[in-house]
Amino acid sequence: MESTLVQEAKTAFSSHYSYEGSIIVRAPGRVNLIGEHTDYNEGFVLPMALDMYTVIVGGLSSDQSVCSMTTTSQRIPDSERTFQYPISVAIPPPSKPGLWHNYVLGVIDQITKQCSTVKSRPAYNLLVHSNVPLGGGLSSSASLEVATLQFFLALYPGLIHDPAILNLKQQALLCQAAEHTYPQVPCGIMDQFICLMGQEAHALLINCRLPFDTRAVPLNDPSLVVLITDTQVKHALAGSEYGTRRAQCESAVAKLEKKSLRDVTLAELQAGRDKLSDVEYQRALHVVNEIHITTQAADALDKKDYVLFGKLMLVSHSSLRDQYQVSCIELDQLVELAMQCEGVFGSRMTGGGFGGCTVTLLKQEVLENVINHITKHYPSAKCYSTKPSAGASILFS
Ligand code: ADP
Ligand code: GAL
Repeated sequence: MESTLVQEAKTAFSSHYSYEGSIIVRAPGRVNLIGEHTDYNEGFVLPMALDMYTVIVGGLSSDQSVCSMTTTSQRIPDSERTFQYPISVAIPPPSKPGLWHNYVLGVIDQITKQCSTVKSRPAYNLLVHSNVPLGGGLSSSASLEVATLQFFLALYPGLIHDPAILNLKQQALLCQAAEHTYPQVPCGIMDQFICLMGQEAHALLINCRLPFDTRAVPLNDPSLVVLITDTQVKHALAGSEYGTRRAQCESAVAKLEKKSLRDVTLAELQAGRDKLSDVEYQRALHVVNEIHITTQAADALDKKDYVLFGKLMLVSHSSLRDQYQVSCIELDQLVELAMQCEGVFGSRMTGGGFGGCTVTLLKQEVLENVINHITKHYPSAKCYSTKPSAGASILFS
């Protein structure tokens, strides 16, 4: 049965463009269960794809132009929801940071550069419709990039067999490159990997070091719930501090004379403490510990040891708050509120930080109580009970 979201997207496309879209694709958002700020340090992450999606409906156009529009008004003024340019001109360069169509243009730019099967540029119309909250740390951006790539895989004849993007790892790396070059966000690889490789009823342990191997970890116990709570805030620091954290990790690595923090043991870090500034030491301490506890957490999930998993979530949160300093009052409050409830195993901030969401593991039987408790003390929190879902797909072409 067709989901409401897809139906809404189809209707919006035909009412805006006055014909029926012939391609429908979708890509999920994601939540990271544990392993935060480890992906760009070649560590481990343990995310799952969400049952929340970006849907793109589109088709060829007879207008000799390319038109992209989004239905969302969250964070996007009406005047910026539609973007159009003639196919006779080159792909426009990145426009002012923060504009949503940078995510679409970045993908088409990478395809043009990397894929030899692309010989011409068809005119097309596309419409983006999504129920992933924008800017909430659930990766609406990667979901948009990955959905865009699916759309072009369906649109361009032969692209699906192009050697540059034959496998999902190549596709994820293309989308990451798109995010680096157009929106100019220096993200790691976690989001694009999980949006493409998510599996129903599983979290995915991703080794963020070449050759980027992955292990699906079952997460389908009916007595368990993964609850996401959205603080509904995003502090201005989020963008700039991400780059600062990356730079601090890089300078710690250089001073420790290693290739990455993945190669540093706790003992080596402690022995090298004098070479680092206090801030560098604290950042590195978070990363080294977090890489270690992420593999422990995946093993705990395999054994259905939710008590241990929950404890590790709390260790991760404290370290993100105190050592990595990417939490905020609102995230700390939501974690605290969740932990005041019976039947909650663990809770932590998820994503880049400075706002966005927390993720909480709890018993199904206490779900209602937990939501009531959280929203009583933090009325603007939005709660989503989620389940691990499949990665991106072409639904119709
Ligand atoms: P997130 O954690 O949700 O990925 P980001 O701030 O990194 O947060 O990315 C959000 C940005 O991605 C939005 O501001 C917008 O530019 C773009 N985006 C995501 N989803 C959509 C959508 N459905 N329509 C238009 N733009 C979107
Ligand atoms: C996200 C980023 C990811 C990852 C995460 C922190 O915003 O896109 O690559 O680094 O922050 O774990």
